[in-house]
Formats: sequence, structure tokens, C-alpha cells
Amino acid sequence: MAIDVEIQERAPAPVPAMGVLEAIRTRRSVGKVRPERPPREAIVAVVEAATWAPNHRLTEPWRFVVLAGEARHAFGAAMAAAQAAGRPAPADEAAKAAARDADAKTAAKALRAPVVIAIAVEPVVGPKVVEIEEVTAGAAAIQNMLLAAHALGLAAIWRTGAPSYDPAIKAFFGLTPGAHLLGFVYLGYPDGAPPERERTPAERVTRWLGWDADGSD
Ligand SMILES: Cc1cc2nc3c(=O)[nH]c(=O)nc-3n(C[C@H](O)[C@H](O)[C@H](O)COP(=O)(O)O)c2cc1C
Repeated sequence: MAIDVEIQERAPAPVPAMGVLEAIRTRRSVGKVRPERPPREAIVAVVEAATWAPNHRLTEPWRFVVLAGEARHAFGAAMAAAQAAGRPAPADEAAKAAARDADAKTAAKALRAPVVIAIAVEPVVGPKVVEIEEVTAGAAAIQNMLLAAHALGLAAIWRTGAPSYDPAIKAFFGLTPGAHLLGFVYLGYPDGAPPERERTPAERVTRWLGWDADGSD
């Protein structure tokens, strides 16, 4: 039996209410999490938050697949199989062993957090629907998820990598070939302090037009 199956759900630690700006400012991508699975209600809240993202023409193009327990092993196996399918047959025993190691490492990636949510966009096809807007709506949904997770005291990180762009992984999640798999949000309870990050001040990437030169208005 896999170790993670035995881990009990825990109630989330009570967190003080957090304002939106504070949540935006203090959210960090946190990959290091503890093995306990957060309760389903917390994950439901995170996915609900995603569905309130803005979306042009109300197409609601997002799709979510929420993995825990054994389902993550199946995802890991699918990622390893996709990786193996993309490489030439190993020439000798040493190459075979290296390939096996690489595939095992890839499979283990699915187990980095107790909950993994795959997020995809199935673009609505229509005369007035612009595909990039479907994708950007999906990205907004993911940011909502990250902020909701943070506000609930959970650690989260949005990961992509080769599996996001692999048709076999799309198929694994039951998506159509036209879908965009935007990535995977790994969720759990934080294990340690969040990483520190820096940002370029907004003023360096912003031009203000039609405002007083002295910045007073
Ligand atoms: C589209 C997208 C894909 C990402 N993919 C990965 C990834 O594959 N692995 C990873 O460690 N972080 C990934 N990240 C998270 C970024 O590394 C992270 O947002 C960045 O380092 C800034 O850190 P912060 O989110 O804590 O501010 C991704 C973020 C985005 C928006």
C-alpha cells in the first residue's frame, strides 16, 4: 500500500481573514508541502474560486481534474510513459537503466503534493470567440486558485513542463486535442517558510499617459 493512502485528512489551520491586496502581495509559489491531504472542502473552495474568473462572452472554458491518492500515481505513470515514448530506444543496458531512472524520477513528480489539480481550457469555437482570450481566462482562473489557496493557509505552486504540452497527457485527462492544458497546481500544507521573491517595481514597467507630470493626480 502506498504510504500516502494512510495519511488522514486534517482540518485546515484557522487562518485570519486576509484582504485581497494582502493575499496578492504575500502569495508565493511554494513547492515544499507536507504529505497530509487538506480536506475536500478546502479544495472545493479553491476550485470554486477559479470559476469566478473573468471570461469573455461567458464561455467558462476551464476544466479541472482534481487528483489525490492513487490517482496521482496514475498521473505519474502517464507522465513517465509519455517521456519514454518520446525518446529513441536505449542502445544498451546502461542507457536502459538511465532511461528507467529518468522515468521513475518523472513519475515521482506527481507525488510532490497530496493534491494535484490539472487545469485545462477547452476553447469554445465560435465566430466571436478569440482563442487567446479563452486561454487568458484560464490563466485568471488559476491565479484565483493560487490566491484562494493562500488565503486558506495552503501552499500552492503552478507547474507546467513538457507534460503540459504532450498530447498523451491531454488524452490522459480526457481532454480533446484542441484543449490547452495550462498546467498543474500542486497543493498541500506548507512545510517551512515560503521562499522570498523580488519584483521589478511597477513604475519601471508602466507608462502613465494623461496624468499630471508631478504625479499628484
Ligand atoms: C505558466 C506558469 C508556469 C510555471 N511553471 C512552473 C514549473 O514548471 N515549475 C516551477 O517550479 N514553477 C513554475 N511556475 C511558478 C514560477 O516559477 C513562479 O511563479 C515564479 O518563480 C515567481 O514566484 P512567486 O510565484 O512565488 O512569486 C510557473 C508559473 C507560471 C505562471
